[in-house]
Amino acid sequence: MKTLIKKVDAEFPENSLTIFETAAKIINSGGLVAFPTETVYGLGANALDSNAVKKIYAAKGRPSDNPLIVHISDISELYPIVSYISDKALKLIDAFWPGPLTLIFNKTDIIPYETSGGLNTVAIRFPSNKTAQLLIKQAAVPIAAPSANSSGKPSPTRASHVEFDLNGKIDMIIDGGGSKFGLESTIIDVSSEIPCILRPGSITKKMIEDVIGNVEIDSAVIKENTMPKAPGMKYKHYSPLANVTIVSGDIENTVKKINSLAFKSVSKNINTAIIATTQTENQYKYGTILVAGDRNKPETIAKNLFKILRKCDYLNIKEVYSESFDSDGIETAIMNRLKKAAGNNIIYV
Ligand code: TXA
Ligand code: MG
Repeated sequence: MKTLIKKVDAEFPENSLTIFETAAKIINSGGLVAFPTETVYGLGANALDSNAVKKIYAAKGRPSDNPLIVHISDISELYPIVSYISDKALKLIDAFWPGPLTLIFNKTDIIPYETSGGLNTVAIRFPSNKTAQLLIKQAAVPIAAPSANSSGKPSPTRASHVEFDLNGKIDMIIDGGGSKFGLESTIIDVSSEIPCILRPGSITKKMIEDVIGNVEIDSAVIKENTMPKAPGMKYKHYSPLANVTIVSGDIENTVKKINSLAFKSVSKNINTAIIATTQTENQYKYGTILVAGDRNKPETIAKNLFKILRKCDYLNIKEVYSESFDSDGIETAIMNRLKKAAGNNIIYV
């Protein structure tokens, strides 16, 4: 299959209407279109068409018990596909949609089990990205979209990442530039009485609690070796080909330990990289230094993390040593992804 790749202006995607007409035609005839969102790129299909949705699993190599997120472009599109919306859910919708928050509801019959991974619930997201909104509007159906990476790889934060993983396997890629947030949406289950965060993201627990009061966080997000409630969270994920080790502790000891580990690795002639921050980059002496971002602006680290993990593959790195991010804001999401990339390989200093 030849993959059509088309660029749109992230600010003014409406100037490229013919591109959206082409993309909508593909979606409406059961094909696959990758598109930008404010979090990461998604791989879209008509969420109501079980055959189209099956193609997503095939293209990504994704296990079929891992449900998809359904994307909408207006709140009115929510009512036909979910059976009940609690007051707390309404408050979250009002506060955070459109934006990087996914809500889990009980589904209606028009959502096929292929989309919900066999569950009676369905995950819904109303993205703020204009290109994503225009595509959904033009297709006039809800669009099921997981992240547009090969299963197990870091999520794509630019069109070239999607092309690298899926070129020749999908009908079209809409290139709308780099992702604003760079980590996947926060997922919160509002299908039962007490809301529960299943995946941390840029919308933090505190931001959610400011709107609806106490919420739980799935213990698997924090504790190792616990079965997560979001099926997709149990899979090894975000992994570069290299061995990743996280070093956790105060900054001074972390730098010392990483320098000693990197020295050992480099002296064995192993291609080595260090994931550093603007605060520490000048203190490392060995290997390739990759600066994730600024510790005082953790959103910069969130935005760059997947790009850096992909760069490790590109540079043929075999051993990665990363600093740790231990505050409880967006750092929770950063560490959740980093721990998966490391297969929970952490050294405490
Ligand atoms: O930011 C995002 O959410 C991106 C963009 C494209 O919107 N999408 C994304 O999709 O990250 P994906 O498929 O990579 O991750 C969806 C996660 C998986 O861990 C899946 O198991 C969980 O959501 N999920 C989906 N439906 C669910 C449900 N009904 N109950 C529990 N977890 C669910
Ligand atoms: Mg994914």
